[in-house]
Amino acid sequence: MDLKQYISEVKDWPIEGVNFKDITTIMDNGEAYRYATDQIVEYAKDKNVDVVVGPEARGFIIGCPVSYAMGIGFAPVRKEGKLPREVIRYEYDLEYGSNVLTMHKDAIKPGQRVLITDDLLATGGTIEATIKLVEQLGGVVAGIAFIIDLKYLNGMEKLEGYDVLSLVSYDEE
Ligand code: PRP
Ligand code: MG
Repeated sequence: MDLKQYISEVKDWPIEGVNFKDITTIMDNGEAYRYATDQIVEYAKDKNVDVVVGPEARGFIIGCPVSYAMGIGFAPVRKEGKLPREVIRYEYDLEYGSNVLTMHKDAIKPGQRVLITDDLLATGGTIEATIKLVEQLGGVVAGIAFIIDLKYLNGMEKLEGYDVLSLVSYDEE
């Protein structure tokens, strides 16, 4: 299946000059959504993964069906103030300002093997922060899976040394 066919491109959204890649047209097609999920499960199945981790919100859409299919848990990475129990936090820079992501302190036990999922790799800031949180808790990143890699934003450079899967690549905007 050619998944790219199911991704919508929206010109000049959310701001002029951006050609937005929308995965909701994968999700609303049962066959395409299952195919994308199965591809990630296939990638992860020999990695001895204990838990799936994904950053809100779109990381949940990808990671939760994968964790269900694999029969393992899912641990959410959330913006500050959203998780009710004791958290660890990681702050990172954006083009303007900064962002904080958090995880529950007991979401991962030291030594557990983690599959990180998100819909899309752009600059890599979100996934780098997610890696830092997982590793702060003593987790081992066994793999990282995306639907989309926007190659022209060079996010992959932040993931050197990690095992990464992306199902669809875009070489230019
Ligand atoms: C989008 C996307 C990735 C991130 C990629 O999330 O879902 O998580 O940006 O960008 P980066 O590689 O430059 O960090 P967004 O922050 O828009 O939030 P959402 O998932 O809640 O829609
Ligand atoms: Mg996101």
